[in-house]
Amino acid sequence: MIQTKTYNKEVLKAIEEGLDRKPKRLPSWLFYDEIGDKIFQAIMRMPTYYLTASEFEIFRTQKDRILNHIIADGSSFKLVELGAGDGTKTEVLLVYFLNKNVPFTYVPVDVSEAVLTQLSTRLKKSLPDLKIHPERKLYSEALEIMKNDTSERKLILFLGANIGNFNSEEAITFIKKLAINMNAPDRLLIGFDLKKDPRLIQAAYDDPEGITREFNLNLLGRINREFGGQFDLELFSHYPFYDPETGVTKSFLVSKQEQDVWIDALEKYVYFEEAEVIHTEVSQKYDLKMINLLAAQTGLEIVDVIYDQKKYFADVVFKLKD
Ligand code: AVJ
Repeated sequence: MIQTKTYNKEVLKAIEEGLDRKPKRLPSWLFYDEIGDKIFQAIMRMPTYYLTASEFEIFRTQKDRILNHIIADGSSFKLVELGAGDGTKTEVLLVYFLNKNVPFTYVPVDVSEAVLTQLSTRLKKSLPDLKIHPERKLYSEALEIMKNDTSERKLILFLGANIGNFNSEEAITFIKKLAINMNAPDRLLIGFDLKKDPRLIQAAYDDPEGITREFNLNLLGRINREFGGQFDLELFSHYPFYDPETGVTKSFLVSKQEQDVWIDALEKYVYFEEAEVIHTEVSQKYDLKMINLLAAQTGLEIVDVIYDQKKYFADVVFKLKD
């Protein structure tokens, strides 16, 4: 057969594996193509998606407290951001540090060249004095390289409750990987979304305007665009579910009817029973006990817990356990 289109093999493999699984499960990183990035930015502006506003408030009001964790003797440091995204929250810190004449280099880490270029271009314009050194790498790779450079301390940022996309086992593996690439003076700041009134959490993932629905369905839209899928988005519904006992929010796409969906790149139909689901995302909510446990299981120690006023969110500062 003549292949007229070249497909991204890694992404395709993840799609095939996920749709072959029982129950079906697609990885949440698939959300973030160009359209997904845009929809996520709209999510961050939604009043029901309190996470962004809460963490933004922490950054706005506790800049000094964050700085004090890394500045120590006044020597220069690296501000390393894992998964830099559009960097709006970090910009608050950058502006503040620059105004205080604090010596530092900003190191945004992301696998996406497009994301890094956009961010650097914007920051070079708005903050011409900023020392910026983007790393287009996997998080662990970037940290591995930096580990041997002990001339500067590092403040590593992992913001936005991105940690929530991991289940508890994956979170442990991930943080262990960060920890082995940290030195004693380094600090790690992770943003956790906290357990709270279940209705607020449910609403954050099931907004009345249907933006989160659109975000979830874009996963199928992406398969259509990039892999010649023939998903009819109208035949799937968005179903998020928060379990207040475990703190797990799961998002699903539910097939409204029995159907066979053709995907060019797979050269096959994928079969759905009526009401069959694809599990597309985990958004884990934490409490302090869980965060303490996470630290204990990864060789870290909590240095500080910084909350927003409502205690919806926490930016937690860790160091290596002595
Ligand atoms: C970017 C992973 C933190 O889980 O809250 C928002 C993504 N999904 N609405 C989250 C998301 C649905 C978000 N994270």
